[in-house]
Amino acid sequence: MNEPNQTRDSDGLEQYLNIEDLKAAAEKRLEASAFRYFAGGAEDHLALQRNRRAFQEVSLHYRVLRGVGTRDLSTEVLGIPLSMPLLTAPTAFHQLAHPEGELATARAVKAQQSLMVLSTMSNQSVEAVAATGAPFWFQLYMYKDRAITEALLDRVVAAGCRGLVFTVDAPVLGKREDDERHAFRLPADFAMDNLLPQDARGEREKLQRSGLTRYFGTLLEDNITWSDIQWLAGRTGLPVLVKGIVRCDDAVAALDHGARGVIVSNHGGRQLDAAPATMDVLPRIAQVLAGRSNAAGQLPCLLMDGGVRRGSDVMKALAAGADAVLIGRPILWGLAAGGEAGVRHVYDLFRDEFDRTMALCGCRSVMEIAPDLFHA
Ligand SMILES: Cc1cc2nc3c(=O)[nH]c(=O)nc-3n(C[C@H](O)[C@H](O)[C@H](O)COP(=O)(O)O)c2cc1C
Repeated sequence: MNEPNQTRDSDGLEQYLNIEDLKAAAEKRLEASAFRYFAGGAEDHLALQRNRRAFQEVSLHYRVLRGVGTRDLSTEVLGIPLSMPLLTAPTAFHQLAHPEGELATARAVKAQQSLMVLSTMSNQSVEAVAATGAPFWFQLYMYKDRAITEALLDRVVAAGCRGLVFTVDAPVLGKREDDERHAFRLPADFAMDNLLPQDARGEREKLQRSGLTRYFGTLLEDNITWSDIQWLAGRTGLPVLVKGIVRCDDAVAALDHGARGVIVSNHGGRQLDAAPATMDVLPRIAQVLAGRSNAAGQLPCLLMDGGVRRGSDVMKALAAGADAVLIGRPILWGLAAGGEAGVRHVYDLFRDEFDRTMALCGCRSVMEIAPDLFHA
């Protein structure tokens, strides 16, 4: 994108004081159907609302007189250094938010020393995102046709991906009534360089005609099982994180089947509308996983997402036992409001709020965030 546009993208971002402000800006800029696609959840939006409510009900029993003049927000996940415990969650179709799409997101993630989880349903290819130099994991939806999955995995490994996020909460797509009602369709010239097999013109036309839900039903595997974790790890040699866990026994099973990590998630309330809030189930899952290794004797990492909108939410999740959190919609709001600069602004807001919360809670480093702070 040329210089004038970049200037316009970053102009005035400082007026957006928090993620809700950015969401309002995104709503003004996006077509109504695209905004609803991003913002919406399944059915009655119960899980979507529950995610936020659960965070609001947690309080932090802060410590005082800890000499918090110097604070270090940095951490790491599976050997990847992060400037703070915040990652970009996999979300589909970033070009609906901004013409530069996933490339703008990736550049911002790199500038912020974070980590991007790239969706199978991205507009831009895994190779193009890798070329930005941003560290990334790839989020996989398994195809019915294993040969297509294998070809995609080979590309992902060749591109220099550092981990695989296996999404397990979408054997079928949740019922998204907003998308049906507003006949959400992707623009005809939209690229989907990971999702669609190369040279799949016929498939693309089917997708335009039938809408997303029906189309994915025909393409993606609904018979995924625990043994697929081992298969993915063996096929790629990459650490596999299982995304979409809300139960302790499933978290343990993931590790027993070789996962390197668990992402407590209900897909941002877009799948099972009766799902629990992730913040409600995280503390128990963290307790059950504490000190437990996976099938290969490695210590797992525990991540969570769903409703993280403030730096204090990051603190709450870490106090409950998460190693880091992911944000989905906030990245899309930043991207819509200001492209790469907008996503950087999202990170800046979280960094400022998280830093302030650390000081107010008496924590000088992420290591000092412990369960005694957490009260639900
Ligand atoms: C518009 C949108 C698209 C998404 N696409 C994917 C996807 O392709 N793969 C996936 O695993 N999760 C996907 N998710 C779920 C996110 O990875 C994440 O779990 C969720 O957005 C976190 O909740 P939050 O938006 O409240 O931060 C999507 C979420 C949204 C809002």
